[in-house]
Amino acid sequence: METLGNEQHKIIHGDALAALKTLPNSSVDLIFADPPYNIGKNFNGHIEKWKTEEAYLEWCYEWLDLCIQKLKPNGSFYVMTATQFMPFFDIYLRKKLDILSRLIWYYDSSGVQAKKYYGSMYEPILFCVKDKNNYTFNSNNILVEAKTGAKRKLIDYRKAVPTVYNSEKVPGNVWEFARVRYRMDEYENHPTQKPVALLERIIKASSNEGDLVMDPFSGTFTTCFVAKELGRNSIGIELQDEYVKIGLRRLHIAKEFKGEKLQKEIRTFETEKIANIYQPTLFEPNGTYIHNDH
Ligand SMILES: C[S@@+](CC[C@H](N)C(=O)[O-])C[C@H]1O[C@@H](n2cnc3c(N)ncnc32)[C@H](O)[C@@H]1O
Repeated sequence: METLGNEQHKIIHGDALAALKTLPNSSVDLIFADPPYNIGKNFNGHIEKWKTEEAYLEWCYEWLDLCIQKLKPNGSFYVMTATQFMPFFDIYLRKKLDILSRLIWYYDSSGVQAKKYYGSMYEPILFCVKDKNNYTFNSNNILVEAKTGAKRKLIDYRKAVPTVYNSEKVPGNVWEFARVRYRMDEYENHPTQKPVALLERIIKASSNEGDLVMDPFSGTFTTCFVAKELGRNSIGIELQDEYVKIGLRRLHIAKEFKGEKLQKEIRTFETEKIANIYQPTLFEPNGTYIHNDH
């Protein structure tokens, strides 16, 4: 296990259970945990599938307990897993924390669709706090358009003095954000990268500038990247070299790793673009032919 980075942004390259044990208790303001889901995804050659569901859950209960231990008394904990395991997380955590919201991250899936059952279009997220009477929730920083009020400009005549409906509101518990696609600027080479927009909402709502945000399964380090953009401090834990390299680059912690220069992978359409720059064009955009003798 190795710690990289600086005072504000640390990357712990190693196993989450071992790394979590090294952190001081009650020291983290916000934890976002997006673990392997036990559904056979390939994380850089490592297939995440436990022998049994029980073995997966036993492992999860261990790091869930450690996360609770590391959270400050007024801290918040957001945790994800596959839909089929979330009920177990819910039952386990509700004895230890206050679960304030059961969130649905909904996305449209224009790719492969299930044909003989209803395809999965969402991932669940639990939002928990240690103390429901003392936690950070910056509702004004995450307001969204209240369609009824903003678009239809309705007036509520039931009030003593008729008033216009609110045009903004705190988001409900169904959040629609596009999944990270290959052509999006934020795309990194990882099978389960979470969108910046999702983490922006979570970090803005549940932490303040200068707070410490921690992610025990960092992947592409979206959590730490957004934490940095928003002036929070961060600790990200990740097992795989390939993903630690992404974190070092995204957080501007290092330009090299084990002698290798860190740079974003060039995507196929970017090589096409580069190639096109150097190819003489024979046709003007309006279709006229340019005679090119060179
Ligand atoms: C679901 S992905 C996280 C994706 C991340 N939220 C993002 O936005 O990119 C889970 C990550 O946990 C890492 N991982 C798996 N087992 C781990 C362990 N025992 N300790 C630390 N990281 C682990 C995997 O390599 C993978 O990158």
